Order: sequence, then C-alpha cells, then structure tokens
Amino acid sequence: MQLHIFLDRGSRVPLQRQIYDAIRQMVLTRGLRRGDRLPASRELAEMLDVSRVTVSLAYDQLTAEGYLHGRRGSGTFVSSQIPDALGETRHRNPPRTVAQARIRLSKYADRLLEEPARPQPPAGAIDLSCFTPDYERFPMAEWRRTLGRRLRRSGKLLFQYAAEAYGHEPLRHAIAAYVAKSRAIQCTSAQVLIVSGSQQALDLCARVLINPGDPVDIENPGYRGSHGAFRAHGARVHAVPVDRDGIVVPQLNAGTRVIYVTPSHQFPTGASMSLVRRMQLIDWARQHGSIVIEDDYDSEYRYHRPPLPALYGLAGDVPVVYISTFSKVMYPGIRIGYLITSAPLTHRFSTAKSMMDGQTSLLEQMALADFIEAGLLERHVRRMRRLYQQRRMALVAALDHYFGEAAEILGDQAGMHILVRFRSVGRELDPTRDGVLLTSASKYYFSNAPANEYVMGFTAVSERALREGVARLQRAWSPRAKTAK
Ligand SMILES: Cc1ncc(COP(=O)(O)O)c(C=O)c1O
Repeated sequence: MQLHIFLDRGSRVPLQRQIYDAIRQMVLTRGLRRGDRLPASRELAEMLDVSRVTVSLAYDQLTAEGYLHGRRGSGTFVSSQIPDALGETRHRNPPRTVAQARIRLSKYADRLLEEPARPQPPAGAIDLSCFTPDYERFPMAEWRRTLGRRLRRSGKLLFQYAAEAYGHEPLRHAIAAYVAKSRAIQCTSAQVLIVSGSQQALDLCARVLINPGDPVDIENPGYRGSHGAFRAHGARVHAVPVDRDGIVVPQLNAGTRVIYVTPSHQFPTGASMSLVRRMQLIDWARQHGSIVIEDDYDSEYRYHRPPLPALYGLAGDVPVVYISTFSKVMYPGIRIGYLITSAPLTHRFSTAKSMMDGQTSLLEQMALADFIEAGLLERHVRRMRRLYQQRRMALVAALDHYFGEAAEILGDQAGMHILVRFRSVGRELDPTRDGVLLTSASKYYFSNAPANEYVMGFTAVSERALREGVARLQRAWSPRAKTAK
C-alpha cells in the first residue's frame, strides 16, 4: 500500500511526530479503513527517506494508543476498534478547514519550543529512557484514604474559588518546615507559593522577571523545560557550559538578568555544584545584579551523603527564586510544586499565577498536607531512596560488567538517572529489534553534543530488567562494546 505522507523537513515538528499525525488523521477520517495493512516500517522508511527507527517509533505510538495493531510476523494493521470516538463524528461532520496562513499567531506562539512526543517502548522492550518514580511502589491505599477523608470532610471549602493563589496554608507551612530541615532554607509560609508543578514556576519566572529581549543564562546541557519557558517569553537565552562542579561561572554572560541552575543534581549531567562554585555564583550574581533561579527537582534522592545546602540559604542579599516539585517524590500527574522567594516578590508571583489558573487544585493540596503531616511522605521517600539506591547500583554494576571502561558514568551519586558516555556504539539503536529504549543526551545540548551519550533512568525498572537492558545494549552494539565477562 502507498501512503501519501508529506514530510516538512524545515518544520520544528519531529519527523516521527509528522508521520504519527498523518497516519492518525488518515485513520480518523477513514482514509485508512479498519483492518487495512500498513507498509512494513522498512518499506515506509524507504518511501519517506527517513530512518526505520523514525517510522517504528511512530507505529509504536499509534499501536500503544490503539489506532494500529501488529501481528507478529504478519504486519501492522489499522485497528478494528478506533479509540477516538471523535473519529465517527469527524467523519460525519468534517471540520471546517481554515487556511493555515489566515490564522495569525502571536510572537509567543511562534517561539514555543515543540517538545517531541515521548516514544513508547515497543512490547517487550526494556525502557531505560524514563526517570519517573516507580508507581508500583506508591502507597496507593494510604493516598486513597487520605484523599477520601478530605473529600468527605472538607465541605464547601473544596468547591470554592480561593481568595488568593498562594495555595493551601497548611501545605505551605509544611513545606517551609521541610525546607528548613532538609535544605537549610529559612522562610515563612508567606514566602511559599504553591504552583502546578515546577514547569509553572519556570513560566512564572519568565513572566515576572524578564522582558522580551532580556538575556537569560541557562545550563548547557540543560533542562528543556526551562529553555522552553524563557524562550517562549522572548528571552535571549545564553547556554553556559557545565563541568563536574556545575555551571562554569566565568562563562556567564555579563548582562544577564536571570541565571537558571540545577545545583543539587545538574540536569542531565548529574553534577553536584561544589560549595566553592556555589559561593562563586552568588558573588557573581551580586556583582552583576542578576537573579538566580534554583531548580531543586530531585534532591531527596541522594545516596551517600546529604545534599549541600540550597543556594537560597547561602545567598544572603542576592535574590534567589527556589523551585521544587512533588513530581519526583509523589508522581508527576499530581502537578504540585512550589516556589520560594522573598515576601514582596512572592506576592507578585501569586498575582501572576492567579491570572494563569486561579489556583492549583485544592483537593490534592489538602490531601498532600495531611500526607506530610502524618509522616507518610517521609516514610515513602525513605523507602524509595533505599529501593532506587539498589537499582542505581545494579545499573552501574551492569554497565561495568558489560562495557567496562567503554562506558563512562556521570552523576551516579544522586537522583533518578545517570548520564553514560559510551566510548563508541556500533549503530543507532532500534528499540523494536534490540528490545531496549534509551534517551540520547543530545536533545539537552544547545551546541556540540558529544556522540554516544545517553541519559539512563533506573528508578522504575527492576534490578533484573536493568541488567537485561544493559546486556541487550551490549548485544546490539557488539562487537565494539566489551564482551560480557
Ligand atoms: C530539571 C527538572 N526540573 C523540574 C522537573 C519537574 O517538573 P514538574 O514539577 O513540572 O513535573 C524535572 C522533571 O524531570 C526536571 O528534570
């Protein structure tokens, strides 16, 4: 079968996403009918002049979402049960099409950084590409009870608009107490703003602290969520190299308004910013009148010694906006994070937040406060730290076993991922054939991405699967990789 797919190679939308969109659209508008057989991935890859992996990832995503199904050895077919009920409606009432050129988008929309869809691991593949908590180990029964109690007991409060966007006071209070103990941050609950995940805090920083054209320094390699937020709001983003001690201070841009850093566990290299470097950064910010944004996204997971005190507590008169999240210690879908700064500024952030979404959903905030108060979060984090520590050791040991010196491991003292530089790899990985999915670190670099560098998550994968995943990598990349002992 011929599929007429037009790929726009000048677009920022990844090719894999363009293929996914085109096929999905054909399925929904019945250009492709139930049971139709799709070309083999190799065939379509040749037709479109793209790599086979690109087509396979698009097929995998469509299969995971139920649009396609594959029969081993006999091909890939359009599913007989199309998941999107809209498919029927769309077919009967085709949408009014508006010529793309007639929709004038804002400059903000033009600057949005398109985030490629996360590829789904093909059936049977080991997913070393994601660094999320292990949901199987989440204390679901206790969380369900806590939520249920709040639902039953909170009455009217739960149904109303909050007077201000700051967030549920007992939760802010619990956070102020927590950061005092664990991060050496002295603040009151009035300085804590609850946000819908760190991502909203970053967006708020961009709105409140910069004007279009202002220079902002971020880490290279670095977190795409911060790059995307600053860029969308028109910042002139300057990527500053990081070394084993964190951001290289002498390379900061003298005119910068804002410096974004991840000092506890640099994303993605895993470097912990040394105390000397922290002091150097604070001095630099003082001299240049810059504001520091400290993204402390996973400092709970430190495996040998406690994390260094937060920059916020060391900074004295230098303004720091401290950001953290419950995505790592609870789960990302909870969409609760927090931002701490000096009180007058917190109020501006809160006002800006009320313009964005009024407030973060109250039920989860209330339940989370109860969960913390009852010591359940602390217990869960303690357990997960032990579990992740074992998994981290299993991954490091497997890399050592299968690759020896051909794999250089960075950032393994903390966090939920490690960075691995392989001396050489034989070829591009094909998750369907090789049975393992990895994230290349290249997408986090703004320039000069080293070849063969991967971010490997270990927290949601069993020790056995970690070992098997690394063995599969070795098989895929041998004979250049070291043979198993
Ligand atoms: C550097 C960094 N900051 C923040 C987050 C979490 O963001 P959120 O709280 O929006 O889920 C992540 C998630 O991976 C991250 O890597």
